[in-house]
Amino acid sequence: MGKTFYITTPLYYVNASPHIGHAYTNIAADCIARFERLKGRKVFFLTGTDEHGEKIQKAAQNAGLSPSEFADKVVVHFIELWKNLSISYDDFIRTTEDRHIKTVQSVLNKMRENKKLGKGKFLHWYCVPCETFWTKGDFLDPKKADKCPSCNRNIEEIEEETYDLTLHDQQGWLRDYINQHPDFIQPQIRRNEMLGLLQQLLPDYFCVTRPKSRVEWGIELPFDKYHVAYVWFDALINYISAIGYPNDLDKFRQHWPVDVHIIGKDILRHHAIYWPVMLHSIGLELPKTIFAHGWWLIGEEKISKSKGNIVDPSVIVEKYGQDPFRYFLLREIPFGFDGTYSEDALIGRLNNDLANDIGNLLNRTLTMVERYSEGKTPQPFIIGCAIDDEGLKTLALNLHKGLDVSFDGFNFQEALEKIITLANKANKYIETQAPWNLYRSKELKRLNTVLYNLLEVLRILTIALFPFIPHSAKQMWEQLGIDTELEDERFESLKKWGLMRPENRVRKGKPLFPRIE
Ligand code: MSP
Repeated sequence: MGKTFYITTPLYYVNASPHIGHAYTNIAADCIARFERLKGRKVFFLTGTDEHGEKIQKAAQNAGLSPSEFADKVVVHFIELWKNLSISYDDFIRTTEDRHIKTVQSVLNKMRENKKLGKGKFLHWYCVPCETFWTKGDFLDPKKADKCPSCNRNIEEIEEETYDLTLHDQQGWLRDYINQHPDFIQPQIRRNEMLGLLQQLLPDYFCVTRPKSRVEWGIELPFDKYHVAYVWFDALINYISAIGYPNDLDKFRQHWPVDVHIIGKDILRHHAIYWPVMLHSIGLELPKTIFAHGWWLIGEEKISKSKGNIVDPSVIVEKYGQDPFRYFLLREIPFGFDGTYSEDALIGRLNNDLANDIGNLLNRTLTMVERYSEGKTPQPFIIGCAIDDEGLKTLALNLHKGLDVSFDGFNFQEALEKIITLANKANKYIETQAPWNLYRSKELKRLNTVLYNLLEVLRILTIALFPFIPHSAKQMWEQLGIDTELEDERFESLKKWGLMRPENRVRKGKPLFPRIE
């Protein structure tokens, strides 16, 4: 069996329920996974939860539960949300699972055997919410080293004994690697940021453990019972533990190297520097691409639990449905940029694009098929007004090329613009062809051709929309009366015209995207 397309999301901390930022990453990754499946590739899509470390230990304490009871409670919210958002993951990994713990321990053993692990006493600053170590060089003004350079929350200066991997001597090969692999870190602005970081001197070491005296809730080192793995070191290893490293190397080789890690920009350094150094130290290939997306903000502020401005995705889904939410997040901003979240903007997208452009097109077309063609797909006759037909047909048959280009650049917004342009063209086609006049003047051959063309465009639109709004696309498919499974459709059928079967009965249903006033 050939290599799969392997895509991952970060593992979410289970200190609190998921919010819109978490939903965003999973929706984006799901959209890519579905697009790749459409292209006929075998996909392995991994998500999961990050369950160890000081932050979770403290959250559990505050809730009066043991960390594992606490994690068991919170993980349910993630699983439930992914179900309600149609996230089509192939595996869900929790860092407290045995399969993961064993891999982390064997990676530690291997690093030790390879003489990569040192041990020393370190003085540094630690941000518990980010679970991140900082050193002097990370602060603009080292005298004011009391706020986390990433999240600006209070940090503590700590001195502790840890095992470590050297960093300063890795800088050269990593910089060369990034320079030679333009697709490795995306988008460009993030790549430049990492290259900038690698121009300066990195800290000498990267700590990979925490003393148990300070953090109990972690994976114990196989060779030192007084230390546990540092939570980031533990969590990053999920990307290989879930695919069988090191015990099932056949499975592992089917998936590794990962095609893309989708992450947020705040955790780029962990993925683009620490993770490659870890992989290098055990002789594994680096990821093909790490894509860091931007943040959802409310006003100027990042949406996050500590800011108290959480938008609960399950409430939005309950109120507007999963697909308007998915559509909004993918359509509103170019992937990689920050965006401002507001319910008004979501309603605007729902009303304009989904209700007016897509929903209306489906509804009007099916109403006309019911009225003028006894509810069945008509037999087309290629006569008259050929110029108008050609314009529509060409745009529809070129959509696949546009989608390819946009997905190559992780540009969901652009892909959706192309889809909406086609829907608009079809809506205009209805106006210019005025099927109601053709019916009145009994130009039935022309009428049938026009209706057939509209159904064909709807078939193509539905397939193209499937990665973005899978639940509604399935309902569209159903209403078009196509008997095959939408999941089984392949990209190839976007390149063909004339696949709707005449005589097939359409099944017009309720409007899919009712307008919100
Ligand atoms: N547990 C680590 C990741 C380990 S991966 C091996 C972690 N977890 S997290 O729950 O804090 O964040 C997970 C992801 O959510 C990150 O990619 C982060 O960027 C993303 N988001 C959190 N808030 C966000 C927004 N407001 N907007 C968009 N995404 C943001 O970090």
